[in-house]
Formats: sequence, C-alpha cells, structure tokens
Amino acid sequence: MEVVIVDRPGDGAALVAGAIAALVALRDAPVLGLATGGTPQPVYDRLADDCSAGRLSLAGASAFLLDEYVGLPAGHPASYRQVIEREVVARTDLRSEAVHAPDVAGEERELPAACARYDDAIDAAGGVDLQLLGVGSDGHIGFNEPGSSLGSRTRLKTLTARTRADNARFFDGDPEAVPHHVVTQGIGTILAARHLVLLAWGDGKAEIVARLVEGPVSASVPASALQLHHHVTVIVDEPAASRLERAGYYRETWASKPAWQGI
Ligand code: F6R
Repeated sequence: MEVVIVDRPGDGAALVAGAIAALVALRDAPVLGLATGGTPQPVYDRLADDCSAGRLSLAGASAFLLDEYVGLPAGHPASYRQVIEREVVARTDLRSEAVHAPDVAGEERELPAACARYDDAIDAAGGVDLQLLGVGSDGHIGFNEPGSSLGSRTRLKTLTARTRADNARFFDGDPEAVPHHVVTQGIGTILAARHLVLLAWGDGKAEIVARLVEGPVSASVPASALQLHHHVTVIVDEPAASRLERAGYYRETWASKPAWQGI
C-alpha cells in the first residue's frame, strides 16, 4: 500500500488525473470506477479542466459507479447517477451511455438479480482499471458498512445512522431524507479492480485513515481490506494524515520515488 501525503486536495487530484491520463494513453477502452460524495470532487474538477484544455479525453472510457441509493425518485439530484452526470459527464467528454450505475429502478425483490447483472457487466467490460474510493467516517468503502463480508459482491445494504447523518448534507441537512437502503459494489467486487485509489481530506478522516492503513485487517473497518490488494494508492492531505504513525516513512518513500513510476 502506497501512502502519498499531499499539501492540498488539488495536488492529490493532479496525481489521480495523471494516472487516468496514463491509463487512457495505454488502453483503448479504459474502465474507471467512480465514487461520489465530497471527496472525489477535486478529481472531477481537475478532469473537467484537463478535458476542456484538450489535455485529456475520456471519450473512449467507460465507468462503473460504486453505489446508488434505493428508493429515490428517478432523476433525484442526490442520486449518484445524477451526481456523476452533473460533475463528470456534463463537464468532460465521457459519454453518458458509457456510465453504468447499479440498477435500482425495479421492485426490491428484483434487486439481487440486478446486482448480479452489475457484477457481470463489470466483468464483461474487462474489469475496472482504476477505482476511485472515498472512506466513510466509520470505515466504509462503497457503502460496505462495518461488518460487511470482505468477500462480498454487489448487493443491497442498509446504511448506519452515522452514515445517514454524514450524508444529510446532500439532502438539505435532513438525515431522515437519506434513504436507508443502497446497492453497493461489494468489498470483493472493489478488490477485483486493478488499481485502487483511496482519497481522504481533512482532520475528520484522520482517525479512520490511520485505522485503515495501519490497523488490523477487519470487517469492522471495511476499508482495511485494501491492505490485501496488490496495487493501492492512498492519497491524503496533511490533516487526514495527522494520525499516521509512519507518516515520516511515507513521505521519505514518496520523495525518493522515481517520477516514471507514477502512482
Ligand atoms: C460514495 C461512496 C462512499 C463515500 C464515503 C465518503 O460513492 O461510496 O463510500 O466515499 O461515504 O463520503 P465523503 O466523500 O462525502 O466524505
């Protein structure tokens, strides 16, 4: 696991945009895994800038979303499909038809089949090349709340009260408006991506970043499962890095890394 400590989220976003540009140069049809929430916003701003300046094209890329709320009316502005349409599709040349989200439109009892189809669609696309991740204050990745199986696949999950409170800011501050249910890629699904890039900003994430990077692998901290993956980059700003015991070593490693290696 590589830990990169940056001065500002924008510096981290530049590293991720560079990795995506390298991927686009390498592969005809790169597959991106997109997260939502506040954390990836600097990356999406940077991708938008790079595309408008002609430095990057996502026209040949496809994307799979990590998760989606269940029970929101179609087109709800907080639905993750709408967030990605607004923040990525509308601002880059990524095609809307190339963006895939868990299908939550049917009856709840149809969801297991829709979830299995989603995992199949990821496999049929050749798997995710680069998966962006944020981390919840309780350690969730995607919406795999503490206790989630480390081998789980895409499925229906129930959000904790803490996550609904954290996400109330996207629902006019009302935790009751945040759906109880979501469909999320499982931890096993996420771990199948070829490169995982987890981002965290601010001191509110410092404790969970320390637990996921330096604590034991445990279903109680779902993000700690990243320690099992062969290519993980954790990019944090100084406040989010403030509880890391080995911060000095991570800084030294990054400072001496040859530039050609990228992340
Ligand atoms: C979003 C997602 C979640 C968020 C996490 C952190 O697609 O899968 O795991 O990454 O809840 O949210 P923010 O970034 O808003 O702190």
